[in-house]
Formats: sequence, C-alpha cells, structure tokens
Amino acid sequence: MSSVAEAKPETAFPIPAGVFAETVTSVTHYTDRLFAFRMTRPQSFRFRSGEFVMIGLPNAEKPVYRAYSIASPSWDEELEFFSIKVPGGPLTEHLQKIQPGDTVLMRKKPTGTLVLDALKPGKRLFLFSTGTGIAPFASVIRDPETYEKFDQVILTQTCRLDAELKYGRELVENTKTDELMSEFVGDKLLFHASATREGEPKGERVTKLIESGKLCSDLGIEALNPETDRAMICGSMAMLREIEGLLQDRGFEEGANNKPGTYVVERAFVD
Ligand code: A2P
Repeated sequence: MSSVAEAKPETAFPIPAGVFAETVTSVTHYTDRLFAFRMTRPQSFRFRSGEFVMIGLPNAEKPVYRAYSIASPSWDEELEFFSIKVPGGPLTEHLQKIQPGDTVLMRKKPTGTLVLDALKPGKRLFLFSTGTGIAPFASVIRDPETYEKFDQVILTQTCRLDAELKYGRELVENTKTDELMSEFVGDKLLFHASATREGEPKGERVTKLIESGKLCSDLGIEALNPETDRAMICGSMAMLREIEGLLQDRGFEEGANNKPGTYVVERAFVD
C-alpha cells in the first residue's frame, strides 16, 4: 500500500505532533455571533456522522483546542464546522477571523454520542438543537444511513434571532434538493425552526413546544412516543437538562455507544 505524505503548511509556530494541519477553503458569516467554515479533509480521516473533533489554531506554542461537531457528512471530501463567536473567547476570538488559505489544526481522533449506533432501532428520529447545536445534525441529516434506519427525521432549531436560523434553513433546503441525497430523503425530512427574540408573535423555545404538544401538532405528526421515536439533543447545558427531563417523563432512556437507548445527548461544547 502506498501512502502520500500530505504537505505541511508554513506557520509561525511548529505544527504539534499528532494533529492534522488543514487548509480553510471557505468561510461564511451569518451574523455577528455565528459563522461556518469549510476546510480540506485529510485522506486518512474517517468519522461517524454526529461525532466531534478537537479544533485549534497554530497561533501559539501550545494551541487552545475546543470540541467542534463535524457538520459535514462522511461522504463529503471537505470538512465543515458551524461556530459561535465568543467575544474574548480563547479560540473563537481568533477562529472567527480565519480566511481561505489559513491553517486550522485538528486532533486526529473523532468521538461522540450523537451517532446512530447509540440508538435502538425506531421509526422516527427527533433531532433537538439550539444555536450551533445544529452542527452534528447537519452531518446526521446528510447521511443516507439515517434514512435507511428511520421513516421520518424531525430536526428542530431554536435561536434568538431569525438570521441565526439561516444556516439550518439552507442546510435543509440543500439536503432535500441535493442530487445524491434527495433520493434518500424524499419527503422524510421535517424542519421546525423558531426565533425566540424576534417576530410577532415571537417563536417559542422547543422545550415549551414539546410540553404543550405544539411541536408535533404544528408539524402535523403524532405525539412523541418512546416505542417508535428516538431522539438526539445538542445545545446549552440548561437546554439539554430540560429536554432530557421532558423525554424521561415520557419514558425515554439515555443511550451510549456501548448501550444503545432511545435518546442521546452530547455534553462537549465549544467555548
Ligand atoms: P431565549 O431567547 O428564550 O433565551 P443562546 O444563544 O443563549 O444559547 O440561546 C439560543 C436559543 O436557545 C434561544 O432561542 C434561547 O431562547 C434558547 N434557549 C436557551 N435556554 C434554553 C433552554 N433551557 N431550553 C430551550 N431553549 C433554550
């Protein structure tokens, strides 16, 4: 077997051992709080949809790394990430300024619980997110296996402002019309988006919508049922706790890679 050595970019500090050094190919700013970027993917890098990696920048002897869900699907030849911009945040303060051609560091081992393997077989898959918590689901909804395993996939995103929902809206639209994916997706993918601090009337938090049953009635689907439904949750700690409580009240049980259940949660965050 032959292996091609990947060219290492020139950076002010040496690239640490054991990490990939990849080149940014595009950056899209959605709001003053959110942006997405794409970068080259190492030939040897494999991951499961929904996993995260540790990302850093070559701007210090000891770079700061943060957990980032991979937003792109496993068949994509590039890697995509969706990030918040934290004022003064040790990584995002610098990461938000990256441009095509810049270098991003990535530790080699992907991991995480928001994977199909951690869920028992079911009929419907609910993906609950707030803000950049949609990132792992951007990968999951672009994985053909998701539609082989589930009859319906329901993605929800709650953001403060309408402009923050643009990434998710475009993602869902592009997934439905993508030449490769549309064949798998058909009419199986539903999206519920709400902006809680804008519009008249303002959108409601997904937690409220679950409690009142409005989430399912708005979408014209049956109420949550642990017999048929599986769920993944990604968002702030408070949101995770609240949705977990709502699911547990309805008879759902947490799963893990080594013990599949009826819902899974990711507890690794960006700064
Ligand atoms: P709200 O505007 O009512 O605070 P943030 O940017 O603070 O992470 O919030 C992103 C979105 O998640 C906002 O719409 C926010 O609603 C919502 N949110 C914050 N906390 C929770 C929670 N515990 N459960 C559900 N949604 C939440």
